[in-house]
Amino acid sequence: FKIAVMASGSGSNFQKLAEAARDGRIPAAIELLVCDKPSAKVVERAESLGIDTFAFNPKDYPSREAYEQEILNKLLELGIDLIVMAGYMRLITPVLVEPYYGKLINIHPSLLPSFPGLHAARQALAAGVKVTGVTVHYVDGGMDTGPIIAQRAVEVLGDDTEDTLYARIQAEEHVLLPDTVRLIAEGKVLLEDRKVTIHNS
Ligand code: GRF
Repeated sequence: FKIAVMASGSGSNFQKLAEAARDGRIPAAIELLVCDKPSAKVVERAESLGIDTFAFNPKDYPSREAYEQEILNKLLELGIDLIVMAGYMRLITPVLVEPYYGKLINIHPSLLPSFPGLHAARQALAAGVKVTGVTVHYVDGGMDTGPIIAQRAVEVLGDDTEDTLYARIQAEEHVLLPDTVRLIAEGKVLLEDRKVTIHNS
């Protein structure tokens, strides 16, 4: 089972996923990192882990579709079964979504559909919710929309700042993402009519 990760930033989720695959906790291999920021820390992490990287600068292409087509060609060439978006900071177009619908997931630091988009922890604090969390969902081309696969709750504490809350959210992400990818790689996640069921016997 072959996985590609798309990420733009620090890559802590990428790292946890890659370690889980390397240590045999996920029956899969991370074959490729796709990164739209060649200077991002995630690129260094991939290098240390010995994972091939396609790092590109979107400005070198005439359109989003053009670089996505190049990404798609690489994914097809490698026979990628699942794309994991972990902090990839761009919306993607039908060029990637259509061929990979149902095989393309994203992790987001809130209980969707609450707080999509940027700064989800900040949004949660501003709204005054007492519980927020983490969501892993299939990507349908919208901004943090698409069928939900798994969620975990994180309590908001009275003295939380954006940093302290986000740190606890990330700790949950680092568990939920590898767990969810394992279920997918084991064939236990079923997507039908935009509804997800998990067969975890
Ligand atoms: C995570 O919080 C993820 O939910 C969001 O982007 C962040 C990426 O963090 N989509 P990292 O680069 O994995 O540390």
